[in-house]
Amino acid sequence: MKITDISFVEKYIRLTMDGYLKGWHERNGGNFSYRIKKDEVEKIEYFLNKNDEFQAIGVNVPNLANEYFMVTGSGKYMRNIALNPEDNIAIIKIDEKGENYKIVWGLKNGGKPTSELPTHLKNHSIKKELTSDKFRVIYHSHPANIIALTFVLPLTDKDFTLAMWEMMTECPVIFPRGIGVVPWMVPGGKDIAIATSEVMKKYDVAIWAHHGIFCAGEDFDSTFGLMDAIEKSAEIYIKVMSMGGKKQTIPKEGFIQLAKDFNLDINQEFLK
Ligand code: 13P
Ligand code: ZN
Repeated sequence: MKITDISFVEKYIRLTMDGYLKGWHERNGGNFSYRIKKDEVEKIEYFLNKNDEFQAIGVNVPNLANEYFMVTGSGKYMRNIALNPEDNIAIIKIDEKGENYKIVWGLKNGGKPTSELPTHLKNHSIKKELTSDKFRVIYHSHPANIIALTFVLPLTDKDFTLAMWEMMTECPVIFPRGIGVVPWMVPGGKDIAIATSEVMKKYDVAIWAHHGIFCAGEDFDSTFGLMDAIEKSAEIYIKVMSMGGKKQTIPKEGFIQLAKDFNLDINQEFLK
């Protein structure tokens, strides 16, 4: 039995290739983490090496103490993961305080977890708390259309949510609470981790201006699907603008009716 035969590892790797094929992961762009379930940890126990040193995460995540995560390596390319998972991804364990991590599998030729580890873990911490342990996936990518829109649309939650809802009728069904925007910040540290986790308290999506997007979800399919839906809406938005702009659209009352019929907890703030 190989570690890649285990179902969650297989699904994790499948997503990295799907994201690469979408064009969301130039070079080492993007990163991805999964909070491993207890029964899955038991299945991989045999593969784990416990001897590495603990290192500082850079943020405190006490409710993630002793949890295990599968994460992409910093500087590693999504397109290479399926070919050689053990060289490009890692499993890390958080210490009992939620302040340090150690590598227990992977990155076999050296390396570190993604430089966005503080943002990933801070988001996991918030989502674990707010979803009663349900959400397990945090995914960051660099899709061209959503990034392009951050140069044109006002950088507000309302502007981005309405624009994305409007471009495909299914969007309010997929993300009824909306999406949040983090203004441009230096990536890879504590400050952007905290700013992003504040957005994640309200939404499952944080757009990083002029950089990319973070999505959170319960499982691989719904998280990938969320990213896919938003990026497709952004693409439609750009096509509409390139054809001279909207001539008609879904009215605000339409969203209200949709929310009623689909029983959605739609964010009324954006419909005022
Ligand atoms: P890493 O290679 O460190 O994951 O960085 C890629 C990235 O997208 C930074 O935001
Ligand atoms: Zn990035």
